[in-house]
Amino acid sequence: MVRRVRTAVFPVAGLGTRFLPATKAMPKEMLTVVDRPVIQYAVDEAREAGIEHFVFVTGRNKGVIEDHFDRQFELESTLEARGKTKALEELRRDLPRAGQTSFTRQQEPLGLGHAVWCARDLVGREPFALLLPDMIFQAKTGVLKQMMDAYEETGGNIIAVEEVDPQAVSSYGIVARGEGPDHGFSITGMVEKPKPEDAPSNLIISGRYILQPEIFMLLSEQTVGAGGEIQITDAMRHLMDLQHFTGVKYSGRSFDCGSKIGFLTANVAFALDRPDISEDFMAELRTMTEELPISIEA
Ligand code: UTP
Repeated sequence: MVRRVRTAVFPVAGLGTRFLPATKAMPKEMLTVVDRPVIQYAVDEAREAGIEHFVFVTGRNKGVIEDHFDRQFELESTLEARGKTKALEELRRDLPRAGQTSFTRQQEPLGLGHAVWCARDLVGREPFALLLPDMIFQAKTGVLKQMMDAYEETGGNIIAVEEVDPQAVSSYGIVARGEGPDHGFSITGMVEKPKPEDAPSNLIISGRYILQPEIFMLLSEQTVGAGGEIQITDAMRHLMDLQHFTGVKYSGRSFDCGSKIGFLTANVAFALDRPDISEDFMAELRTMTEELPISIEA
């Protein structure tokens, strides 16, 4: 019997410098893909996977994330008075239940590993899911749910991976693949942002993890790694000496909303997947692409 994963950690304390000036006073996790903040997609995915406790590691200027996951009585009573039942139902559906959220602060953005370490007392001595909300997915079964299915079989630590162009590996954490099928193979090594010639594969770590609580002991050493930041990959590499890691090559498509191109592409993909707007939006896109050569020449 593996220990159940009840808690998910969402590190949202980064500065979001790639989205300045939008992120000067607003967290990048509140940028919207169509009409939902990016963080909402990650929370929905966690809920679908059975998560009951949502832990947010926030920082300065991030208070609006806490407000987003709270009730807004004035808004709700106005919607009720105006008979906007559907909007009201959707707002209530998105909301975690009372007592299911916890917030802590990372006082300085010292790196992802440090942000996760800040959640240690809220997580306690239990396995937990870690979701980087920048990464969102279109997948028939949510990516964390796919990982939970693998976890039921293997226990230990699970990392979601996907393939990229071998020349692009130097922007990511990369795993070395051992025995086993796509939906659950042994990970035999990992490295943060290698040069293409040093990379053990082209399988990138895609922002979703299930980790055992012993990771906190390793993170407490606060070793500074790539980019001068405390990296989760370094702590996981040390945990590999003690525990098993399984890779899940998930089915679905990822969008890195921490980059401009990923964010814009996500907006197009999710809009085209929305029955209420897809047809009109597609017509606009067609017109734009037909006009494109003329405007480039002009
Ligand atoms: P990123 O490195 O993509 O986020 O971290 P960033 O630093 O905010 O973005 P840029 O590069 O300046 O534009 C991935 C995730 O880890 C969180 C971020 O909020 C993001 O969700 N993070 C990163 C922290 O919580 N604390 C940190 O110190 C670093």
